[in-house]
Amino acid sequence: NPTVVRTVPALRRAVDTLRVKKATVALVPTMGALHDGHVSLVRLAKRRAKRVVVSIFVNPTQFAPTEDFGSYPRTWKADVAKLAAEGVDLIWHPEVKAMYPDGFATRIVPEGPATAGLEDRFRPHFFGGVATVVGKLFTQVRPDVAIFGEKDFQQLRVVTQMAADLDLGVKVIGSKTVRERDGLAMSSRNVYLSPEERRAAPELHRVMKQTAGRLRAGEDTATAMADGAAAITRAGFVLDYLEVRHAASLAPIGSPKDGPMRMLVAAKLGSTRLIDNIAV
Ligand code: PAJ
Repeated sequence: NPTVVRTVPALRRAVDTLRVKKATVALVPTMGALHDGHVSLVRLAKRRAKRVVVSIFVNPTQFAPTEDFGSYPRTWKADVAKLAAEGVDLIWHPEVKAMYPDGFATRIVPEGPATAGLEDRFRPHFFGGVATVVGKLFTQVRPDVAIFGEKDFQQLRVVTQMAADLDLGVKVIGSKTVRERDGLAMSSRNVYLSPEERRAAPELHRVMKQTAGRLRAGEDTATAMADGAAAITRAGFVLDYLEVRHAASLAPIGSPKDGPMRMLVAAKLGSTRLIDNIAV
């Protein structure tokens, strides 16, 4: 069974033990409430390194006061069982006070095209909180590689940029989005959906696939995107954004001829906010 550590000194000792004979270490950062998407990251981590550390920490600094920090699903026992079944070596599960002691006063604030717009427009607190906690996780664990899901595509880009900019010496690796059979991207927040909302939710992915097909076929980007947005709204969502960006830089892009394109969406179904993205 995995070792569980809850303080930074205990973590440092446990990682030193894992590293005997220069074994490589992979880190998979999570907020728990683990599903098959998280498990797929752990499996990729096992292929990329000898030892696997999973962090479970619901990070308060990436939630706005109006968001769901208090009610975010916490399923500790089931999480540990899943990680044990995958052969994870170490679980890093700090208390908030261990991560942010009284007097904590430093933040990592990402900027540049990867942060501009999309999630940042609707959750301006978000990437500062993510970069700060992921920066801390990287310096606490000092992994060789870290695995992040493409599900949170902008987060993956922001973290990759931060690790490079700060010379953290961690190779950030992206992992494909795991979906339910009907196309809905797995998310810890899907448990918030009512049965009726759950039936409507796969429409988000269906419309994106259809819209991406139209772009690939050479249709005018503005027209196809406007039709996609209208279809998402008709399905009962309140749309935050549906955009295409350059897949590598996340800079604005006009058509698939101008480079690899990624389509990204965020929309609310009732009080649940869903995000997703696909390659065009
Ligand atoms: P969390 O939402 O728990 O996600 C942890 C990791 O799992 C992220 O890299 C996310 O992209 C990935 N993931 C989530 N759903 C997935 C799916 N359906 N398929 C593949 N990967 C998926 O993202 C966070 O936590 C936090 O922001 C964190 C990075 C831990 C910092 O607090």
